[in-house]
Amino acid sequence: MNSYRIALNFEDGVTRFVDCGANEKVLDAAFRNRINLPMDCSDGVCGTCKCRAESGTYDMGDDYIDEALTGDEAAEGLVLTCQMVPQSDCVIAVPVPSTACKTGTSKFGAKVEAVTPFGDAAYELALDVKDAPVFLPGQYVNIGVPGSEQHRSYSFSSASGAGRMTFLIKNVPGGLMSSWLAAAAPGADLEMTGPLGSFYLRAVTRPLLFLAGGTGLAPFLSMLEELARQGTSQPVHMIYGVTRDQDLVQVERLQDYALRVPGFTFTTCVADPATTHERQGYVTQHMPAQALHNGNVDVYLCGPPPMVDAVQKHFKTEGITPASFHYEKFTANQPAA
Ligand code: FES
Repeated sequence: MNSYRIALNFEDGVTRFVDCGANEKVLDAAFRNRINLPMDCSDGVCGTCKCRAESGTYDMGDDYIDEALTGDEAAEGLVLTCQMVPQSDCVIAVPVPSTACKTGTSKFGAKVEAVTPFGDAAYELALDVKDAPVFLPGQYVNIGVPGSEQHRSYSFSSASGAGRMTFLIKNVPGGLMSSWLAAAAPGADLEMTGPLGSFYLRAVTRPLLFLAGGTGLAPFLSMLEELARQGTSQPVHMIYGVTRDQDLVQVERLQDYALRVPGFTFTTCVADPATTHERQGYVTQHMPAQALHNGNVDVYLCGPPPMVDAVQKHFKTEGITPASFHYEKFTANQPAA
């Protein structure tokens, strides 16, 4: 029997994946996996199980009443999990924390395969993992820093489900993880929890604009990997801005995606006034009007807080309201959902 993979993304960013049979309701599949999604009547009457389907196709049947889910709500993508029978893989945003559903993050271990420095700017950390983790492209994990009680959060820069995971990590001089990475040997064990985060690629139904600041490039590499896999008929433009010339890393990967993802284009820019780069300035200064598609665009941004503020201000000045704006702010050593 066919089954579909359902991602349940809880309000606190925790994400759990469950397999749902071809004729099974999402609520039942979650329950089978010991996840108690919000519910009361289980009969399409109370509306307690209302969630938002972020992507995927499904059948809601006609056994529920309008008081539980109105036609407008259904048209907006709201669903009743006690009625919803998936017809494809789906992502469902659950409007309560994972703990309220008696579930939480998964823990897993991995071994260091390689640590590749990019000058003094960043590291690529490559890990081997036995049971390849599944995540939504754009999400992150918390990685425990060996020898400490602390963890750091990093977005995957690799594809979901791969046995080799990669992360792009800013080199913070004297930073806990940066210092460990500088001396890390292949084979070292790392522990992580996740996947986490609400910053992930939604169903692609209109043009996309990706704005990456520094190592905020990482989640986009994972999203582009997914776009290369699933294909897309929508234009995807990325503006990748960094502080210094040497912070511009993994540009070859973007060039490779420009060949593999139809409609994908990108530009880079460097903020340092002393740069020799052909585009000096911030991403807002190198954002062509056509990349905004008069607002018919889904914008994704991962970068430091001032970049998020600057981009929001830029949209206001331009009189543009994007169809959606998803962002993840991070500081040097602690990305935050
Ligand atoms: Fe009552 Fe789904 S649990 S409508």
